Amino acid sequence: MQKIKNICCIGAGYVGGPTMAVIAQKCPEINVTVVDINEKRIAAWNDENVENIPIYEPGLSDVVKESRGRNLFFSTDVDAAIKNAEMIFISVNTPTKTYGVGKGMAADLKWIELCARQIARVSITDKIVVEKSTLPVRTAEALKSILENTGNGVKFQILSNPEFLAEGTAVEDLMDPDRVLIGGDIDTEEGRTAIQTLVDVYAHWVNKENILTTNVWSSELSKLTANAFLAQRVSSINAMSELCEKTGADVNEVARAIGMDSRIGSKFLKSSVGFGGSCFQKDILNLVYIAKRFGLQEVADYWEQVIIMNDHQKRRFAMNIVESLFNTVSGKKIALLGWAFKKDTNDTRESAAIYVADYLLNEHAEVVVYDPKVKPEQIYADLDYLGTRTEEENRALLTVVNEPYKACKEAHAVAILTEWDEFKAYDWQHIYDAMLKPAFVFDGRNILDINDLKRIGFVAHGIGMTQ
Ligand code: NAD
Ligand code: UGA
Repeated sequence: MQKIKNICCIGAGYVGGPTMAVIAQKCPEINVTVVDINEKRIAAWNDENVENIPIYEPGLSDVVKESRGRNLFFSTDVDAAIKNAEMIFISVNTPTKTYGVGKGMAADLKWIELCARQIARVSITDKIVVEKSTLPVRTAEALKSILENTGNGVKFQILSNPEFLAEGTAVEDLMDPDRVLIGGDIDTEEGRTAIQTLVDVYAHWVNKENILTTNVWSSELSKLTANAFLAQRVSSINAMSELCEKTGADVNEVARAIGMDSRIGSKFLKSSVGFGGSCFQKDILNLVYIAKRFGLQEVADYWEQVIIMNDHQKRRFAMNIVESLFNTVSGKKIALLGWAFKKDTNDTRESAAIYVADYLLNEHAEVVVYDPKVKPEQIYADLDYLGTRTEEENRALLTVVNEPYKACKEAHAVAILTEWDEFKAYDWQHIYDAMLKPAFVFDGRNILDINDLKRIGFVAHGIGMTQ
């Protein structure tokens, strides 16, 4: 059995960073080097003050602190790390394509291919290459072809080891995963050995029963399937939320009632302003694209509806604000509490807040944003990326503040877009007193008690309940 002494991970992002930090902590005899072409990101991972690492995740800085400089390293020298390692994780971004065939649907595998070519060019010893990024089913085939045809006699084994961590709970999820999935070439001795080598890494802290081994294609497709099922639950409860608002039912009560059925389960039934994050939408679009390529139109349509429903939910939330404020928000101050796509992360990718803000800005609202962890540059970059208006216009129309009470002062309405715990602890009477009247609250996460808000005097709207 091959013993792993050096691991290289290409991509120091939300997955590469935390995953490797945990592997390094749990496997002190393995040197783990995380590499990235983004110099700023690597510099931040190496920042003397461990609180300045580029990714905010509860508990992560402590894990990094324990291993960094001992057996956990962050570097921009990609070639050296590849050359040194017996096992290479590819954990680069795989966003939706923005050009050419499959634009707006397929996963862009440009970065994956670049990694494969670099590994092929640099390697002088045999390697196990692990797909950690989320990839379309059968990507391993393309990787194998690139590695074998441009390599120099070096042997490569390709494994699929998708990551199931959720942001905000990444460390917890990595420390105690529901399962670890490893796909490999189960038909050959070399393939089985490679699988076992990776199993042995995880077995440092994960029970063997929770480490699942499959063929490569099942592993690749399971990752897309898991995200599709999770997103589908959110769209399903959000679809019911609209019906609740028309019928007098309360979506929280409906979720509780169905969640107690053990076949349905209680998790992931929280109605919201819409799911965000870098993966749900991208992975479902990718699934839809794959289904279409195989001529499976009904399968494609079925999954596409999850996205259609989610877009509808975001738009519906923003429209409700405008309609409730007497059909115009022009020149009215609207405070957005939260910009991250969920609590306990500074990640804003595909956050519902971006789309709600864009909608309100189109209606000429004066938008003020407060988020406990997201930096102003990120908020402006998210809006600029949409290309709806110029950078100057975005900065003139939207203000970012670092104090929640300031955000709400003299506002016509407050909208909650991320479920940060601190929002629940605010002095809402104080916020009410400082707002223009009638004072509106739109709770896009159902974290506040609507009746308490009404008692204070607010016109309060939650998701999936009649006003
Ligand atoms: P990310 O954008 O945060 O990080 C990717 C990093 O890869 C970037 O820092 C980028 O500079 C680097 N990179 C790209 N090409 C490179 C190259 N050729 N050489 C060196 N570095 C390179 O992305 P992420 O959120 O960590 O996601 C990575 C993958 O993991 C995606 O496929 C995603 O779908 C999947 N995934 C993400 C999550 C999540 O919670 N974010 C969870 C599970 C799976
Ligand atoms: C999701 C999956 O949960 C992870 O298993 C997966 O590894 C990851 O995608 C990925 O592949 O990137 P993540 O996007 O980090 O993780 O966060 P989630 O907790 O899944 O939340 C996604 C979005 O759905 C958030 O905007 C969240 O607020 C929303 N959501 C979630 C709801 O609106 N209601 C819910 O009940 C649950």
